[in-house]
Amino acid sequence: MSDATSEWVRKPSAAGEGTACTLEEYEAMYARSLDDSDGFWAEQAERIDWIEKPSNIADWSYDPVDIKWFADGKLNICHNAVDRHVEAGHGNRTALIFEPDDPDGATRHITYAELRREVSRMANTLLKMGVAKGDRVTIYMPMVPEGAYAMLACARIGAIHSVIFGGFSPDAIAGRVEDCKSDWIVTADEGLRGSKTIPLKANVDAALEKVPAKAVLVLRHTGGNVAMKDGRDHWYHELSADVPDECPCEPMGAEDPLFILYTSGSTGKPKGVLHTTGGYAVWTETTFRYVFDYREGEIYWCTADIGWVTGHSYIVYGPLLNGATALMFEGVPNYPDHDRFWAVCDKHKVNIFYTAPTAIRALMREGDAHVTKHDLSSIRLLGSVGEPINPEAWRWYHDTVGKGSVPIIDTWWQTETGGTMITTLPGAHDMKPGSAGKPFFGICPQLVDNDGGVLEGAASGNLCITRSWPGQARTVYGDHERFVQTYFSTYKGKYFTGDGCRRDEDGYYWITGRVDDVINVSGHRMGTAEVESALVLHEKVSEAAVVGYPHDIKGQGIYCYVTLKVGEEPSDDLAAELRAWVRKEIGPIATPDHLHFTPALPKTRSGKIMRRILRKIAENDYGALGDTSTLADPSVVDALIEGRQNR
Ligand code: PRX
Repeated sequence: MSDATSEWVRKPSAAGEGTACTLEEYEAMYARSLDDSDGFWAEQAERIDWIEKPSNIADWSYDPVDIKWFADGKLNICHNAVDRHVEAGHGNRTALIFEPDDPDGATRHITYAELRREVSRMANTLLKMGVAKGDRVTIYMPMVPEGAYAMLACARIGAIHSVIFGGFSPDAIAGRVEDCKSDWIVTADEGLRGSKTIPLKANVDAALEKVPAKAVLVLRHTGGNVAMKDGRDHWYHELSADVPDECPCEPMGAEDPLFILYTSGSTGKPKGVLHTTGGYAVWTETTFRYVFDYREGEIYWCTADIGWVTGHSYIVYGPLLNGATALMFEGVPNYPDHDRFWAVCDKHKVNIFYTAPTAIRALMREGDAHVTKHDLSSIRLLGSVGEPINPEAWRWYHDTVGKGSVPIIDTWWQTETGGTMITTLPGAHDMKPGSAGKPFFGICPQLVDNDGGVLEGAASGNLCITRSWPGQARTVYGDHERFVQTYFSTYKGKYFTGDGCRRDEDGYYWITGRVDDVINVSGHRMGTAEVESALVLHEKVSEAAVVGYPHDIKGQGIYCYVTLKVGEEPSDDLAAELRAWVRKEIGPIATPDHLHFTPALPKTRSGKIMRRILRKIAENDYGALGDTSTLADPSVVDALIEGRQNR
C-alpha cells in the first residue's frame, strides 16, 4: 500500500446547502454521540413522529446479548415514511420514480399522496386476505413500486416483511418461508431484467410444493401466463378492487419487529436477521440524511434491489423517511447497452447515485464513451457499497463519471448493521480511494488480533464494534442463541463483523474483506458452506469444498473443488450439470465460476479440510502455501496444483 498522504482526494471546497456537516461539526457531533449517547440519539429521534415519545433511549448489553433502543416509544414507520409528508403539505412531491427495464416503457412518478393511497390499498388487501399484526409476509417481487408498497403496507399494519431477492430459487424460497413460518406471499407474475423474464410466480408455486402457505397475492406485471391455484392465489388487481385507499397505521412498540432479512453466514443455512421498528427508523433516517447529504427536491438513485438490505434501508426506508425522491430501476446496467445507468441518470437528472463496485468495474471495462455521451452534470454525489472498491475503479468513478469534481462516499455496512457504519461524509471529509473512511455518529470500531488483543493506532486486524447503535439487528429470528454465537462469542462483549480491516495513521478504515467463510460475489454475500451443501446433495458428489478467488469484475468468484463418488468420472457434461444443479438449489447468483474435480481434498490427519491451501491454489498463488507437513497426504496438493494449471 502506498504512502497514505499521497492518496488523499480533497473534498470539493463548497459543501453547499442542505444537511452537509463540516469537519468541525462532524467531530463535535461524533464526540457527543459517544459522550452523551442518550442525548444525541434523543435529539436525532425528534425528526420522527412518535405516538408515544421514548424516554428510555439506549438499553443494551452485549453480555448477555439484549439490545433495545427507544424501548418505551410507540410509532409507525410507514406513517413516518409516507403520511407524515402528506400531512406536512408535501403530498404533491414525488416519492418514487419508476424506470422500467425497457427504455421505451412507461416511466412512472408516484407522489407522496399517491404513495399513501397505494400503500393503504395494499395494506387493506393484505388485511382482507387475513394477514394480522405480527404475521410474517414473504415478498418476492421485481423492482417495481409495488414491491415498496408491499413492504410499507406490512409496516402499516404491523406485519413483519421478509423480502426475498428475485434471483433466489424455489428451494431457497421454501427454506425461508419455512424458517419464519410465513403463511403469506406477495409476488408478481414475472419480473423483467435485461429483457429476460424471471418466472416469479412459477418459482413461488414450486416452493409451495414443499412448504404450505395460506395465500399468495399476485401482481400482474408482465401479463405473462401463470397458473393460479383456486382458493390460495389472488390477483392483486382483483382482490384490491373494492378495498378503500385509506388504512390507519397500527401503533407499534419501538422494539416490535419490522422485518426479517435472510443473509448468509459461515455455517449452515441463511440466518433471518431481525430488525425492529424504532431504532431502525431513527438509524436509517439519520444515516440517509447525513451520509447522502440529501437536499430537498433532489433525485436520488440507489441501484440495489429491494431484496437486499441496501434496498430496504436506502431505496425504501431511509429516503422516504427523509421525504426524498427515490428512483427505482427494474433493469440491469448493460441493457439495452452498457450506457443504461448513465442514460437513466441523464434522463431523470439524478443528483445522487449509489451503486456497487462490481457494476463500476463492469462498466469501466466497456470504455468511457458510454459515459461521456450523456450529460451527467446533475450528479453531485456518488456512492459505493457492498464490497471493497479497488482504487482503480474508484478513480474511474471519480474522474470519468464524477468528472473529477464529485465526492464519493464508500459506505461500509452489513445486513446486521441496518445502515451505514463507516464512510466519509461529503461535506466533512477528504477521501482516500479504497478506504471507507471514518465511523458514523455513535459507532465505535475496534480492531482486534486473532486472540482478541486490542490493536491501537495504525494496525490491521479483525473489525469489531464495541457499542450498540440504534439500527443494530436484535436477533436471528427464532434462534437468539445463534445470534449470540455468530456475532458476540468470538470476542466476548463485542459485535464481531466478520470483516478484516486496516486503520491507517489518519484514523481511516480500509475494509479488506471477510475473514470467515463468507464470500462476496458481485456484492452478493454468500456462505461457502451453502454452496458446498448444495453440491453434496447431488447423487454423484462425494465431497465439496468451496472458496472465493479474486475476480476482475465480480470481486470474488466461486471456486468449487469436487470429489466424485467411486465409479463416477469427471466430464465437462457433469461440470455443466453441477453448475445447473447449484443454480437450481440456491439461484443464479450462486453459479460456480470454476469446478475443479479432484480425487481428494487436502486434509489434516484429523480429517479437517485445509481451506487455506485451497484458497491459495484457487488464487494461483503457489509460493505461499505455508506448512503442508500436517497433511495426511501431501501429494494431494501437487495434484491440485497440476489440475489448477491445466485449467
Ligand atoms: O464484507 C463486507 C462487505 O459486505 C458485507 C456485508 O454484506 P451484506 O450484509 O450483504 O450487506 C451489503 C450491503 C451493505 C460486509 O461484511 N461490504 C459492504 N460494504 C462494503 C463492504 N466491504 C468493503 N467496503 C464497503 N463499502
